[in-house]
Amino acid sequence: MKTSYKYAASAALIAVACSFQLSANAQSKPVPQLGKNTLKQVIGAMTLQEKSKLVVGMGFKMPGVPAPVKGEKPKSVDIGGFKLPPSDPMAYEIPEKVPGAAGRTHAIARLGIPSITVSDGPAGLRIEPKRPNDPNTYYATAFPVATLLASTWDTAMVKKVGVAFGNEIREYGVDIILGPALNIHRNPLGGRNFEYYSEDPLVAGSMTAAIVKGIQSNGVGTSIKHFAANNQETNRNSVNTIVSERAMREIYLKGFSIAVKTAQPWTVMSSYNKINGTFTSQRRDLLTTILKNEWDFKGLVMTDWFGGQDAVAQMNAGNDLLMPGNPDQSDAIVAAVKNGTLSMAQLDANVERILKIILKSPTFRGYKYSDKPDLAAHAKVARRAASEGMVLLKDDGDALPLSTGKRIAVFGNTSYNIIAGGTGSGDVNKAYTISLLQGLDNAGYKVQEKLSKTYQDYLADEKAKQPKPRNFFDHPAPIAEMDVNSIVAQEADGADAAVITIGRNAGEGADRKLENDYYLTDAEKGLINGVANAFHAKGKKVIVILNIGGVVEVASWRDSVDGILLAWQPGLEAGNAIADVLSGKIDPSGRLATTFAMDYKDEPSAKNFPGKEFPLPEGQKPNMMMGKPSEVTYEEGIYVGYRYFDAFKVKPAYEFGYGLSYTKFKLSDIKVSSPTFKGSITVKVSVKNTGNVAGKEVVQLYLSAPTQNIDKPEDELKAFAKTGLLAPGQSQFMVFTLHPSDLASFYTGKSEWIADAGEYKVKVGISSRNIEKTVSFTLAKPIITERTHTALTPQVSIDELKNK
Ligand code: BGC
Repeated sequence: MKTSYKYAASAALIAVACSFQLSANAQSKPVPQLGKNTLKQVIGAMTLQEKSKLVVGMGFKMPGVPAPVKGEKPKSVDIGGFKLPPSDPMAYEIPEKVPGAAGRTHAIARLGIPSITVSDGPAGLRIEPKRPNDPNTYYATAFPVATLLASTWDTAMVKKVGVAFGNEIREYGVDIILGPALNIHRNPLGGRNFEYYSEDPLVAGSMTAAIVKGIQSNGVGTSIKHFAANNQETNRNSVNTIVSERAMREIYLKGFSIAVKTAQPWTVMSSYNKINGTFTSQRRDLLTTILKNEWDFKGLVMTDWFGGQDAVAQMNAGNDLLMPGNPDQSDAIVAAVKNGTLSMAQLDANVERILKIILKSPTFRGYKYSDKPDLAAHAKVARRAASEGMVLLKDDGDALPLSTGKRIAVFGNTSYNIIAGGTGSGDVNKAYTISLLQGLDNAGYKVQEKLSKTYQDYLADEKAKQPKPRNFFDHPAPIAEMDVNSIVAQEADGADAAVITIGRNAGEGADRKLENDYYLTDAEKGLINGVANAFHAKGKKVIVILNIGGVVEVASWRDSVDGILLAWQPGLEAGNAIADVLSGKIDPSGRLATTFAMDYKDEPSAKNFPGKEFPLPEGQKPNMMMGKPSEVTYEEGIYVGYRYFDAFKVKPAYEFGYGLSYTKFKLSDIKVSSPTFKGSITVKVSVKNTGNVAGKEVVQLYLSAPTQNIDKPEDELKAFAKTGLLAPGQSQFMVFTLHPSDLASFYTGKSEWIADAGEYKVKVGISSRNIEKTVSFTLAKPIITERTHTALTPQVSIDELKNK
């Protein structure tokens, strides 16, 4: 059954490809074939029409949008006021290789060019889990979200996740995954922060490189996204981001440059937003000058879905592939070559990059995928990574670990409906999600059954009342927490401890809100207080689990409880992974890769998020895709996250790098290899587990650079490493090496990265504010570590925050 489906697909591919106009020349001579002839020969044999098809994708089926009528010219479709461009009828005529994938490229069968398939998204492969008339299922593993993976601070672990993830991509017949995503956590309300790693570019770039290496080791590709400065969802398709060159280079591009230089992802996805007045997909300085020339990126650049507005400008910018693509774009490209606004040389360069990726793809190599990845093995990887990225924020009076066998009262809606990952294209169709209740049960805890039943009944009733989502971006409001005041005293009598889960969800298309989201709802605060009072009255402990994708306010309620475990959104094994940490089976070794402020007003971007909106041009109606014309100015410049909190002496609730263990570690013998910097310098440190249980610690190295020429953050993370599992009393020795580029800052006027002469302080510790020792070295003469091009220059002056 499945085989005939595949044959039908390839027969149709050939039929469609043969309908391309063939030149008389191509018919008489043997036609060059991809993989057998040189790329030059293949491109030389392509007609302009064929080239214009190859650089424009197809195959995305917008949920709810009908297929074009056969034989009629496809029309654009109105969705929520947005005129969705006409679909390519081929997408509907040629069966999909992988139903539910986000798009495909056009095949050109006469030249031996197959269609390759791309699919979302960063936390696991997003495909349709069921197919008509097919008893098999196609579920994928929902791995922990990026925010959690970053909190492991363990690139080897993240690479392992990538290896498992890449296997599913390959075994389900997909060529390229549309991820990982590595935009910076500029503001806690960012709706897609769960898909992104960190507020720090070194962490974001290192995690991206690790997962890309893991995924690509399977012979499939990645698409690191969204390039660049895609830090909000409000008006995401229209927003003009006004940002300095230095902030771009040091914060928003840095992670991408690390990932490109160290892992060579097959593809990069340009973002929806504008940077300093121009859509990123139409910026040649971003895509060609910086990405391809300065960083030597070898792969292809694709747009985000429907991103940008001008196909010809995108081609000229070096945005090789337009996704999901529509025939009008191909027509515009053909016309532009004919009228000279797009050179054949540029189009050929874009075509060549696409062909190079197709050559590497499993589809081109004829890989026989099984449709049967080892989901059970991958679930184990997901569970392990999840428990290693959870961050123990508070543990007073040894509230945790809680030994199994104890009787627990389980409060909070999310304990029963745990959130594995966020919404939108980052959501994964998984076969199951282990709730906290199930996880506790599996681990051998006893739960208060009457309470659990009350919750389950309540949730079933409330769910039945929820309206059906109107579209992909519509999500029902969360169910309000129950008032448990009348039953809590009885629960406190019967149980040994209380666990309360507070959950949050978000995803593409909208940012989070301050009220009832960043700040807990009154019902949630009431629940925490009510449970805490009743349990504390009986001398029993109360633990809060945060099942969230981005930061929430904690300072106003944390004193009421004994323990807080930040579980993030831990993927499909959620409940089991949380129980592993609660029970002490796994020592918590996650550390924050994003700051928890005392309050939203302390956030450096608070007054510039999500920016200013402008009225729509006359006659134009608001639409759900583009939002309103708007702009946001990154006035905080380079002072993002801990770079701001530390330089401006603002106390956070939990600082960057922070996290507790059930054991204690001591750093000692911290030494720098030389008092003067010559070529490189090494820093050595010994880490000892001085507590009673086995655990892992994350050693972090921050650098303070001399500021006589320009202002700089108080400290910047320059290296980190996680120890192995250290038994009580065991030590591990670590060595970090700093290179000239680690010392450098970006000088805007000169377009150079310069390591200034002077004294550098190296701070070694276990969080940005828990430094064990500071050692120093001097650099005698400044070093220009890199000369770049002037690029991304703002058109208006920015009143940027300065630390002087
Ligand atoms: C998202 C991308 C995603 C693409 C394809 C867009 O709306 O921004 O992250 O990869 O859709 O689904």
